[in-house]
Amino acid sequence: MNRFWKKTILPIIEKTTRKHIVEIGCYTGVNTENIIKYCIKNDAKLSAIDPYPLFPVEEWKELYKDHFYFYEDLSLNALPNIKDYDIVLIDGDHNWYTVYNELNLIEENNNSFPIILLHDVSWPYARRDLYYNPENIPEEYRHPYGTDGMIPGQSELVAGGFNCTLNNALTEGGEKNGVLTAVEDFLDKSELNLNFNLIEKFNGLGIIYPNRKELNKKIESCLE
Ligand SMILES: C[S@@+](CC[C@H](N)C(=O)[O-])C[C@H]1O[C@@H](n2cnc3c(N)ncnc32)[C@H](O)[C@@H]1O
Repeated sequence: MNRFWKKTILPIIEKTTRKHIVEIGCYTGVNTENIIKYCIKNDAKLSAIDPYPLFPVEEWKELYKDHFYFYEDLSLNALPNIKDYDIVLIDGDHNWYTVYNELNLIEENNNSFPIILLHDVSWPYARRDLYYNPENIPEEYRHPYGTDGMIPGQSELVAGGFNCTLNNALTEGGEKNGVLTAVEDFLDKSELNLNFNLIEKFNGLGIIYPNRKELNKKIESCLE
C-alpha cells in the first residue's frame, strides 16, 4: 500500500483534511511512519492495528505521544474500540471474511461514513483469499488453502508462483472469495449512498467514500 502514499493517499488525506486516521496492517511500519509525519504536521492522530508488528511499538509510542495509538490485535477485535475516525487504510488480512466484516464494523460504528482505502483489490487477491493465520478465520468461511503460488489467468496454485510461501486459497473465484468480492458484497448490502473507485496498478487500490459532490471532486482529482 505504501507505493500509493505520495501520489494518491497523501493527496487524499491533505485535500480532505483528515484528523483521525486508522491503519489496519502496518508490517514494518513504512506507511505508518508516513502517516505519523502527516499527523505531527497537521495536529492529527493515527490509530494503528496489527497483531504481529515488525517495528518498535513502545519506542514509537514514547516518541510520537498523542499522535500515535497502537492496537496489537486483529482488526475485528480492535475496530470496535476506536471512535471518531475519518479515514481508514485497510491492508491487513486479505480475505473475504476479514474485509467484509471490517467494512461492516466501520459502517456500524460511525455516524458519518469515513473514506476507506483498501489495498489488494486487483490480482492476485481480488478473487482469492489469503490467510495470514488460518486459525483466525471461522472454518465455514475458510476456503481450502495451500502454500503454492499464483500466476495470472490460472485458478489453481502453481509451485514457485507469486507469493508461494503464503496461505493462498487453492482456487480463484466463486462466492465469498477475495478482497474485491468482499467490497462488492458490502456495497450491495449497504444502504448508504457510497462511491467506489479502483486503481489497478500495484495490486490494486480501492476507495470507498460517501457520494457527495464536493468530496467526489477532491477524491477524483487525486486519481489521475
Ligand atoms: C501487507 S502487510 C501491510 C503492509 C503495510 N500496510 C505497508 O504499506 O507497508 C499486512 C500486515 O497485516 C497484518 N495483519 C494480518 N492479519 C491482520 C488482521 N486480522 N488485522 C490487522 N492486521 C493484520 C500482518 O501482520 C502484516 O503486518
